[in-house]
Parts: sequence; C-alpha cells; structure tokens
Amino acid sequence: MPKLVNTLAFVHAVALLPSTVHATVKCTGNFGRISASEYVAAINPGWNLGNTLDSIPDEGSWNNAPVQAETFADIKAAGFKSVRIPVTYADHYVGSSPSWEIDPKWLQRVSDVVDSAVDAGLYVLTNVHHGLQISETLGCQPSSVAFEPINEPPIETAEQAAELNKVNGLFLEALKVSGGFNSERVVTLVGGSSDSIKTSQWFEAPKGYDNPWALQYHYYSPYDFIFSAWGKTILSDADIAAIESDLENIRGNFTGVPLVIGEFDASPSNTEPASRRKYMDVVVQKATELDTAVIVWDNGLDHFNRNTKQWRDPQSVEILLNAAAGVRNSLATFTTDASATEQSSSTYIFHKVGDEVTDQTISIALNGNTLESITTKDGTELSAPIDYHASDGNITFSSSFLSNYFSVSGSPGIKASLMISFSAGATASVNIVQWDIPVLGSTSSTAVSSADLHIPVAWTGLNQVSAVKMVRSDSVYLFDDWTRYLGPLQAGYGTWNGQWNWDDSGVILTAATVNAVIAVGVPTTFTFDFFPRVPGNSVNYTLNV
Ligand SMILES: *[C@@H]1O[C@H](CO)[C@@H](O)[C@H](O)[C@H]1NC(C)=O
Ligand SMILES: *[C@@H]1O[C@H](CO)[C@@H](O)[C@H](O)[C@H]1NC(C)=O
Ligand SMILES: *[C@@H]1O[C@H](CO)[C@@H](O)[C@H](O)[C@H]1NC(C)=O
Repeated sequence: MPKLVNTLAFVHAVALLPSTVHATVKCTGNFGRISASEYVAAINPGWNLGNTLDSIPDEGSWNNAPVQAETFADIKAAGFKSVRIPVTYADHYVGSSPSWEIDPKWLQRVSDVVDSAVDAGLYVLTNVHHGLQISETLGCQPSSVAFEPINEPPIETAEQAAELNKVNGLFLEALKVSGGFNSERVVTLVGGSSDSIKTSQWFEAPKGYDNPWALQYHYYSPYDFIFSAWGKTILSDADIAAIESDLENIRGNFTGVPLVIGEFDASPSNTEPASRRKYMDVVVQKATELDTAVIVWDNGLDHFNRNTKQWRDPQSVEILLNAAAGVRNSLATFTTDASATEQSSSTYIFHKVGDEVTDQTISIALNGNTLESITTKDGTELSAPIDYHASDGNITFSSSFLSNYFSVSGSPGIKASLMISFSAGATASVNIVQWDIPVLGSTSSTAVSSADLHIPVAWTGLNQVSAVKMVRSDSVYLFDDWTRYLGPLQAGYGTWNGQWNWDDSGVILTAATVNAVIAVGVPTTFTFDFFPRVPGNSVNYTLNV
C-alpha cells in the first residue's frame, strides 16, 4: 500500500557510500545471470508480504506476527511464483548521519527471511533503500533475488522526478561497488510515486550500469472503488475501460522494457465480491496480455490468513492465477451503471424475509467457457432442470430448490454457498442469503468528541455496511459537496475506514466524523446502506449537537 520512506535520507546514505566502502563481498558458486525479461516472466504472479518487515517500528508491530518460513511454502503451494518483501529500515539504525549504520541484527533478520523465501522456491523482490549495507548482506543471493531502490517515492514535479532518476542511478552505483553478484543482478527501477502516469511522464533510465532492469509501478485505481470512497461499491463500465487504458499507456511508453505491477489490490475486507473478482480478472488479464508481471498486495488482513492458512476469497486468487496463465475466467455480472438507483450482483441469490419464494435468475459472463456443474459447498451436485436451468450464462434456480433455504418467515442469514464450475478458468461462488433490514440498538445521540461512535446492530443477512450517506439537517453534505455530481448511490456518501466502518456487533462513525458534526454544529443524519443495495435496505442514525 502507499507508504512513504524518507527519500532524502536514502540519497544521503547512498551518495556517501562509494568513498567510504569498498566492494567486500565475495561469493562462491554460480550466479546464473538472467535477463530482466526472463525474471519478469518467471515471477508472474507474485504475492506481497505486506505489513510485516515494513511495519513500524518493528516486525510484528502491525497486524502480523513475525514471518514464519512456512508462509512461503503456503504461498508457493497456492500457485504463486514470487514474493515481494517490502522492508523498512527507518527504525533500525544504530548510527546516524553520515554512516546511517543499520542494526546488524536487523540486516541478519532480513537476510534470513529472504533465505526462507528462496528456500521455498520463490523468486524474491526486495527493497534495498539505504543500499549498500543491505546489498552487501544480500550480495550472494542467487539470480532469483532482485532488488528495488525505494517504495512509492512521493513526486509532484519534474524537478523532483529528475532527483528520483538520480536516486535510481545511485542505487545502481551502490550495487556496483558492493560486490557479490550485485552488478549482474536484476533490478526494478521506479518512477514518480510508483504511479504509471508520472513514470510515463518523467522516468529516465540511468546510463552506464550493467544490471538488467525492469520498471516497477503500483496500481490502486480507481481509487474510489479500491478504498470504498464516496459510496462506491461497483466497477462501472468506464472504470473497466480506464483500467485497460492505464495499463496500455505505460506499456506504450516503455515498449521494450519489462514491466512489473509491484502492488495492486482489491481487498475482500471492503470490496463487493462480483466487482472485486472482475477487478482481479481485468487487471491481471490485461497485464498478462501486455507482458507485465503482477504482484498482489496483501497486508495480512486482505487475502491470505497466515494463521489459519486460508484464503479469505479463494475465488479472487483462482481468478488471478488463471488470468496470469492466460486462461479466460467466467465471471458473475453486476450493475455497472454508475447512475443506477439500485445494484445487483450475481455472486448472491438474495431473498427478503416476508416475500414469497420464487424462481431467481443470476447471470454469468461465460467469456468463451461453458457451464459444467453446480454443486453445494459440501459437494452435492444440483440437477437440471429440477434445481436450475441454464441458458448461456443465465442460470435460473427453481423456487422448489430455493425453498430448501428460503421461506416467507424464516430467519435471515447466509444459508448456503454454491460452486459453479466451467470448462476452463476459476469456479464462481454464489452465496444464498435471506435478508431483512438490520436494526440499530439506538437511532440518535448527542455527539461526544474524540472517540469513535459504535452503534450496536442486529445483523440480518450479510453482516456488513455497504455505504453511508451523511447529510446535515440544513441539507448540506457533511463532507465533499462535489459528490452531488455523482449517482444517487454516491451523492453525499462518506468513505470507509476514515469516516465509517463496522464490526461484528455494530456500525461505526469514526471520531473524525463525529468531530466534523461538532465542528459544523448542525445535527446530521447518517443513512447506513447494506447489501443488497436496494431501496429500503438502509437505516438512519441522527447525531445531535
Ligand atoms: C504514455 O503515457 C501517457 C500518460 O498515461 C499517455 O497519455 C500516452 O498516450 C502514453 N503514450 C503511449 C505511446 O502509449
Ligand atoms: C439473459 O438474461 C438477459 C437479461 O435478463 C437477457 O437480456 C438475455 O437475453 C438472456 N440470455 C439468454 C441466452 O437467455
Ligand atoms: C433517512 O433520512 C432521510 C432524510 O434525511 C429520509 O429521506 C429517509 O427516508 C430516511 N430513511 C429511513 C429508513 O428512515
């Protein structure tokens, strides 16, 4: 994820090195030089060991325990070819300017983790900002280990970008003088903010170095979908087209250069499944078509649960792996119209408590495959035409089949999951959900500053908020008045995590939101929307001042 390191410290650290340090590392064995394009082809797809060695101040400080070697075996077994290991050195200095000496224990720890990943048979890409001491420590690693200089350097201007181009050169200089196999090792260089447009605009490769090099960029676009901002829960047709053209544009600017998307993600923690899986498919399929390797971001709460060894959304991973192998996936369809007043998603069969049970149709974009079978999660195969009938991608489930799970007066909740298999590509999962409108434990209170407001909720279906609208009693939006130009499911809506959230027992208005109400001094009504996003599936909460 976007995380900043101190560019200036990096420049100082590396710039000082050639005069103070000599190539000391001598390696035994054979390096087996490979080209950057061979490296990039071999690492696809990869997985990021996020929020781990890059945690501040130390490994284990954020949401992940220290790395277990077996995690790399799990990642390899899942089908990934490489791991990117972001490392933060900022809190591990034992010396200050000019030596910037890094704690030898930390260097050893990084080296041990890289060893574990190599031993698991994975290719490795790791940061070597504060170049020389680290590149000496890692100097004898095999050619499957590549280095990158710096993570997402914040760049706004052409002048700053010119400095960053120099940083790429200083990084290569540090590798050259550090010995070992470092001057032959593949590196990925970086452009402004690791952003595809700024990289296209300003990146220039340093001259005079032998290292085979690729270009790395990160991709978290469209921002509002990825970060659940302003009520956004779908990918629109325009979004999908923009993703494809973004990837085509940077490829068009660097036709002969191996490219790596070192981070990208749509996390199961906050994105809607049909749109998320489409996102995985379109990014990876387009990247693969453009000879661009992908390394999915995983902060430890996104995809792989390192403790239970389970993938939180196995379909996303299956889609990613198939797309990287050039296989077309069949995908659930969803509302792609940004101006719609309600949204559908074919990863769910929803039934509202109180309604008669009727036949229901979902729609799958087959993308050249044929439907093979539908099974319940415990492996029982559904039979056609009694349980369902399929016409191309339209699958109609009979009311008699759905009556196994739904009834007029039954309790809400997730009743079952179906797995749909196709002639090729990932399986599609469909959750069968009976729902009702959730009930809040209270509907108003007086704002009290400096704490999140946790409002108890009785969940009744999917235990999740989809979006929150925030409108003051004088009809002004609490935040971001410009959102009135967006569709009805986004106008006036706030942003997940920063402004609202939920947990197992309640919905949450963050302290920032509560404080905003206090600051404007106007009572504000919050409309919590749930899934499905259909009229009426919302509740109001009023914060008075
Ligand atoms: C280079 O990238 C820019 C910015 O994304 C884009 O406008 C332009 O079309 C690209 N050039 C080529 C030749 O693809
Ligand atoms: C699938 O359903 C859509 C809309 O519900 C309809 O327009 C389309 O004709 C259907 N296709 C088939 C093959 O039945
Ligand atoms: C929530 O409040 C808005 C106006 O602030 C109103 O239009 C809407 O009907 C209310 N919804 C419910 C479920 O009470």
